[in-house]
Amino acid sequence: MNLLLMGLPGAGKGTQAERLAESYDIPHISTGDMFRAAIKEGTLLGKKAKEYMDSGNLVPDEVTIGIVRDRLAKGDCKKGFLLDGFPRTTAQAEALEQMLAETERTIHFVLNIDVAREELMARLTGRRLCRDCGATYHTIFNPTDVEGVCDKCNGELYQRDDDNEKTVGTRLEVNISQQQPLLDFYQEKGYLRSVDGSRPIDQVFKEIEDILSEVSHSSVVS
Ligand code: AP5
Ligand code: MG
Ligand code: ZN
Repeated sequence: MNLLLMGLPGAGKGTQAERLAESYDIPHISTGDMFRAAIKEGTLLGKKAKEYMDSGNLVPDEVTIGIVRDRLAKGDCKKGFLLDGFPRTTAQAEALEQMLAETERTIHFVLNIDVAREELMARLTGRRLCRDCGATYHTIFNPTDVEGVCDKCNGELYQRDDDNEKTVGTRLEVNISQQQPLLDFYQEKGYLRSVDGSRPIDQVFKEIEDILSEVSHSSVVS
């Protein structure tokens, strides 16, 4: 199954992707995670991406499209993939259509996790991540059993550099301005499904599973 997860910053893309990748055994491909890994490793890609990410702006299309093209060419994507946070511009969406067509693949569903903007600041400033396994938590909405310690691996929790109020403000503005044309693009193609992301994490996951079980019973998925 070839899936895209869309939604504004903090909508819950990463949280749902972690579960979906496990349930459906497909790779979770997050452009944000790939950029953060490159920054950590100090690569040229990381150097290019850092200034954009720190300010809350989008990394240029040519850089972003290039890393997704390379990632989707890897063998593990043959069984399907789950893209999280890509595409974010119509140029990226068009490039994705083209790269999939070249390899005789298509998107099966675009899931847009819909959450009102007012809820997103609190979600992002309270987010905590595990340094070792990358699991996502929230100080109030999804706390760990022991404060500061990952439930899954006992790793140390940290806060993302761009989860401060100022950068979150820019990220929301930037993503809101790009969102509608992208939704229209996928609506026209018939791929788009909206999910109410304002409900608790388990309920959002259930809604996504219901949509996907409908898809996997239809003829679009081989
Ligand atoms: P990226 O890492 O993708 O950040 P983002 O889009 O801002 O999205 P987030 O990861 O912040 O949110 P999420 O939807 O994954 O939420 P999560 O599940 O963690 O991108 C970072 C940067 O990289 C961009 O700003 C840009 O610079 C660059 N970039 C990336 N892709 C790019 C592209 N395609 N083009 C150009 N540049 C690109 O949840 C958030 C919090 O809420 C967590 O604490 C979680 O526990 C909690 N939560 C989740 N679901 C619920 C719920 N249902 N109820 C209550 N709390 C919840
Ligand atoms: Mg994320
Ligand atoms: Zn962990």
